[in-house]
Amino acid sequence: MFKMKSYCKASAPGKVILFGEHFVVYGEPAIAVAIDLRVKVTAYKSQTTFIEGFRTTLVDKALAIALKAVSSKRENVHVKIESNLPISVGLGSSAATASAIIAAIAGLFEVKLSKDELFKMTLECEKTVHVNPSGIDPAVAVNGGAILYQREVGAKPVKLLEDFTLVVGNTGERRSTGVMVEKVRAFAEKRTDVMECLRKTYLSTVLRALKALEEGDLEELGLLMNVNHGLLEALGVSNFKLNKLVYASREAGALGAKMTGGGGGGCMVALVPKERLKFVVEGIKQAGGEPIVAPVSRIGVTYED
Ligand code: PMV
Repeated sequence: MFKMKSYCKASAPGKVILFGEHFVVYGEPAIAVAIDLRVKVTAYKSQTTFIEGFRTTLVDKALAIALKAVSSKRENVHVKIESNLPISVGLGSSAATASAIIAAIAGLFEVKLSKDELFKMTLECEKTVHVNPSGIDPAVAVNGGAILYQREVGAKPVKLLEDFTLVVGNTGERRSTGVMVEKVRAFAEKRTDVMECLRKTYLSTVLRALKALEEGDLEELGLLMNVNHGLLEALGVSNFKLNKLVYASREAGALGAKMTGGGGGGCMVALVPKERLKFVVEGIKQAGGEPIVAPVSRIGVTYED
């Protein structure tokens, strides 16, 4: 895969969570899909180490972890980050950025990383974003496609139907995943009995969703996405803007719609029959959101020429 080179390019996809954000932090299984909005990183050998693009603590951490992995603390790299993935809106930009940086630097120094190594390193970087990441974002960035993910178990691929059309609606409201995870922790700590019931209901929902995916029953899948949205509402992580986009999508003919990612702003996702696509796109616009028709990315982190 690697040639002797003075630079290496790698890219990683964003994601939407179809089932299980927040519940996955508590050990429940979740379903996520990689989307073809990508973070592209080019790493060059250089006289000094510097980052072109946006610099955050996560980017610094990814750089440090990657340089340690290639045992080249004294080597310098110039890292260029380009992205068409909106940041801080629940589309997995942190994991995509970290995994692409690590892969590009490893590639530059011809160090081969397994998927599992790259996952673990990306997860370390995610800890700069919030203290208790479940690992779902790194898992989907590294693997691509659709995955069933559970803490302590890892990622398993899930088969998607060809006519699986998702529309993302971006409220444009940036928020911190860490703050939302903390909000759920405080909710759950005070009401362990309520949390237990919500988790139980969520588990039944996601197990039915897996069956619906296997059977190609998109109507059932959409309905279950609506149920999942209701549970996230109960946890207190949706908000008025997200709900507006969710309801606008359903009104416009989506089979189901829910917030996706940490919530408190950010994005929602709708499962849409092809013939209703333009209506849902228009509905999201009318409700004040930015619609993104996001094709599924079958590939995770990859090297580019
Ligand atoms: O980073 P976001 O906003 O896409 O959220 C990731 C999903 C959470 O369940 C909220 C957090 C996690 O680590 O699983």
